[in-house]
Amino acid sequence: MSTLVIQDLHVRVGGLDILRGVNLEIASGEVHALMGPNGSGKSTLSHALMGREGYEVTQGSVMIDGEELIGQPTWLRSRAGLFLSHQYPVEVPGVRILDLLEVAAGVGESVVQEEALRIGVAAEFLDRGVNVEFSGGEQKRAETLQLALLRPKFAILDEVDSGLDVDALRDVARRIEMMTSESELGVLAITHYSRLLTVLRPDRVHMFIEGRVIKSGGPELADELERTGYEIGEL
Ligand SMILES: Nc1ncnc2c1ncn2[C@@H]1O[C@H](COP(=O)(O)OP(=O)(O)OP(=O)(O)O)[C@@H](O)[C@H]1O
Ligand SMILES: [Mg+2]
Repeated sequence: MSTLVIQDLHVRVGGLDILRGVNLEIASGEVHALMGPNGSGKSTLSHALMGREGYEVTQGSVMIDGEELIGQPTWLRSRAGLFLSHQYPVEVPGVRILDLLEVAAGVGESVVQEEALRIGVAAEFLDRGVNVEFSGGEQKRAETLQLALLRPKFAILDEVDSGLDVDALRDVARRIEMMTSESELGVLAITHYSRLLTVLRPDRVHMFIEGRVIKSGGPELADELERTGYEIGEL
């Protein structure tokens, strides 16, 4: 049993204070949904957690099982058990997705193929360059494939549902939901739509506005936010 604890996180990007005191605590096996308007800082949070260059942490802490991640390079955060599925995955021409996965996960081709099959990724697809000219749906399946093979403790999913058709959404969401029990994966799912959350069932839903969590609740909050939007008066 592990915990990811984000405390009073403040982050500056491009000279702007985007995150303004984020507090979140996620335990193994839990699914937390993060919903909020465009530009509120959700992707900024995901990049800051992973330690992307240019994201300056001016205050606060991020810990996995008491180990501080702020100040550590991305590869050490990854080794500590953190994984990010990008909203806009980066193209890596010349690196086959199969080679990347075999090396990163330390598994053979058959293991990659088996996992690919489970989330509806065709075997030929594995020969392509990482994210090169992938369609929106292919990108998200490829991110999920990496997640399933790397078996992190915690996964941040930045709009893993965007661009997926109905069948792909179900495959991806089911696979991730399965991981929450199989390997006790803890999930922070950034999304605009409660549809993802009908399969990947959240324990907690957080409303994120202007760089901080301003309201938290149970799964019912996701439906409420989708219905009413984010303009809630009684804060
Ligand atoms: N490098 C940067 N320089 C200046 N501003 C930036 C930079 N990166 C992000 N921002 C700004 O930070 C704010 C938050 O962006 P972010 O991508 O985190 O939003 P988001 O909540 O993920 O939105 P969406 O729902 O559209 O994905 C935006 O106003 C964005 O323009
Ligand atoms: Mg975003």
